Amino acid sequence: MKSLFRSVKNLLSVDMGIDMGTTRTRVFVRGSGVALDEPSFVAVNYRDGETEAVGKEAYKLFGRCPPHLEILKPVERGVIENFELAEAMLNGLLENLFKKKALLGARICVVSPTGATDVEKKAFEDVAIQVGGREVFLVEAPVAAAVGMGLPIDKARGLVCVYLGGGTTQTAVFSEGELMFSVSEPVGGEDLTEAVISGIRKKHRILVGAHTAEQLKTGMGSAYPSDRDETREIYGKSVMDGLPRAQFISNWELREMMEGPLNRIANAIKASLEKAPPDLAADIKRHGLYLCGGTAQLEGMGSLISHVTGLSCSISGNPQHACIQGAEKVSGDMRKYGRFTTTPGSRQFTG
Ligand SMILES: Nc1ncnc2c1ncn2[C@@H]1O[C@H](COP(=O)(O)OP(=O)(O)OP(=O)(O)O)[C@@H](O)[C@H]1O
Ligand SMILES: [Mg+2]
Repeated sequence: MKSLFRSVKNLLSVDMGIDMGTTRTRVFVRGSGVALDEPSFVAVNYRDGETEAVGKEAYKLFGRCPPHLEILKPVERGVIENFELAEAMLNGLLENLFKKKALLGARICVVSPTGATDVEKKAFEDVAIQVGGREVFLVEAPVAAAVGMGLPIDKARGLVCVYLGGGTTQTAVFSEGELMFSVSEPVGGEDLTEAVISGIRKKHRILVGAHTAEQLKTGMGSAYPSDRDETREIYGKSVMDGLPRAQFISNWELREMMEGPLNRIANAIKASLEKAPPDLAADIKRHGLYLCGGTAQLEGMGSLISHVTGLSCSISGNPQHACIQGAEKVSGDMRKYGRFTTTPGSRQFTG
């Protein structure tokens, strides 16, 4: 009896949300808000196939891990590429979060990318069930983000939410409370980081790691010209002789290196807007574009998108958490937002 009581004590029934992205995984737990926000990485031991570390602990090892470990990503371009890895990562992260208590019959709202196929949606549902979900439903990232940002989707005739993620750029257009359409393009912050790595290799003949490139991008990168002049010294490995070398990199150089993927992001948004019916044009022009997602934090992103689309841009106060905060609001008010949720069997919750 005592051991049964002890095992029941180790089971947890919660209302939560999961946003497993290309670069980061976030979880909300009702009552605790955003309870987890960690890199989407898993360290796997080659020798026995066991998971050695997940999230920030695995990311720390990226580019500097011992030879028996491999650092892998379960999500690519917003969708689950390796189901077992996704399950291992989520299990590990939730185990840390819930102090080893197992989930029992959790209600889970999962953020999935716009345009995911039924098979891709099913993978999100299945992974949520595997970690203890009983009632699982999905909401598209830019829809969750619009709700998370508190946008007036019920009132506006034409309202555009643009989510700029790590592996995707997703646009949703709403009219009078309904989702008119949503589009996803496979380009995002990861492409900007990779452009920095290849730019430094081509221009300075130096190999830099992903951590260095990411720090440069987030710390000094910009999407649009400004008066700011900044230079930072970085360390990498010479392409010529493999020896460590220092190099100064300026903010304008960085922008030049990222120009290709920056233009792809801005043009993807422009192409999405071309699909909007003409009747929404006046309202879209009046509201402008609402930007969110981690990549919206790149300095000058709003100016670049304004320049390309001719529309003003507002950036949410907490852009990287818009989706997960939206998932919390959606799952907390299914009467209001149930129409935006689906299960992969395409049943809709109506609240
Ligand atoms: N200050 C910053 N400046 C520029 N980029 C940033 C900044 N902070 C975070 N990012 C970028 O935001 C991206 C992550 O955004 P986000 O967490 O919204 O994406 P994700 O959910 O992992 O990806 P996706 O939804 O596309 O699968 C990363 O590429 C990261 O480098
Ligand atoms: Mg995301």
